Amino acid sequence: MRILAIETSCDETAAAVMEVTADSPWVKTVASVVASQAQLHEKYGGVYPEVASREHIRKILPVLAEALGLPVYERGRLPDFSAAGIDYLAVTVGPGLIGSLLVGTQTVAALGYATGLPILPVNHLAGHIYASWIDSAELKHTQQAHRPPEFPLMSLVVSGGHTMLIYMKAHHHFELLGQTRDDAAGEAFDKVAKLLGLGYPGGPLVSQLALKGNRQAYKFPIGLEHEATCDFSFSGLKTAVLREVQKAGEVAPHGVAAANIAASFEKAVVEALLLKTSHALQRRPVRHFILGGGVAANTYLRERLATFLAHKSPAVILHVPPSGLCTDNAEVIGAAAAFSDLTPVAPSELKTYARYPLVS
Ligand code: KG4
Ligand code: ZN
Repeated sequence: MRILAIETSCDETAAAVMEVTADSPWVKTVASVVASQAQLHEKYGGVYPEVASREHIRKILPVLAEALGLPVYERGRLPDFSAAGIDYLAVTVGPGLIGSLLVGTQTVAALGYATGLPILPVNHLAGHIYASWIDSAELKHTQQAHRPPEFPLMSLVVSGGHTMLIYMKAHHHFELLGQTRDDAAGEAFDKVAKLLGLGYPGGPLVSQLALKGNRQAYKFPIGLEHEATCDFSFSGLKTAVLREVQKAGEVAPHGVAAANIAASFEKAVVEALLLKTSHALQRRPVRHFILGGGVAANTYLRERLATFLAHKSPAVILHVPPSGLCTDNAEVIGAAAAFSDLTPVAPSELKTYARYPLVS
């Protein structure tokens, strides 16, 4: 079975062809293209929705053609689509920016009309979880057990818009154990990057700067530290960083003070994620744990979580996708679709959702 997947929920225009075969428990990537708009949004310090939709419109057809290995749409003729051997179309329908999502869903609706292929709507957050079912060479080198996750499992999804702990007892069966009450972890990284005069997206920049800093230099608060909840809060941490930046007066973007703030901030975020993860694992003991979402690309988080689980829950097998599959892409959307019940929606029924909770 081959799935052509499209992702345009935020600022990445992405298309991928994914394959499932009877002899493998993994989903394999046949082709994948991601066009990032990060540079365009840098001067705004975050995603500018109108700019994002316009750029998706410019990029969607070239990205699609490249993923399919077809010539770009020429003189009003649709390229020969049948050669790619696609069985299903999949597309992110939410959560995300409506103007961005619409570019993906309308493209897929048009393809559905033109080809008659069934369309599978996908929740972007499910995509972040299903990244751990994609086979890759990088995974073979880094993981102790080269096998896909098994149920029941726990997943920590940390992205630019969400921070959630999810329990799954079967495919596409999501139980939300906790989520952020204010900012998402990635959002906190992006805001701190802005305060420190770094660029966008902030996560990788803060993380790089943190390598030169002292993690003990500042004692930043851990959100909801003394509540036995699996919920998160990062707004207090962001305010504490703002206060330190103001206290320091001018903080040179790559100076010692900025590096110390970045390092201490990153530590506080990771401590909060580990603390709430340990609450979740007490509530629902599992053997498999998935880390997903853009912030899962963070090296410090990946290392600390691995060490934490090895000490606290040595029986738990940790699944962490390669960094390129943590940030937004279409491979993960195809993977989530592959494990769904394959119920299609008609092109005219395809809707988009700014908010789209993961429900079973
Ligand atoms: O999943 P994602 O690509 O998009 C959303 O679904 O939101 O996540 C983007 C977020 C951004 O906030 C970005 O700063 C953060 O992930 N991020 C990171 C790293 N790479 C991306 N945060 C910390 N460390 C990183 N290495
Ligand atoms: Zn995402």
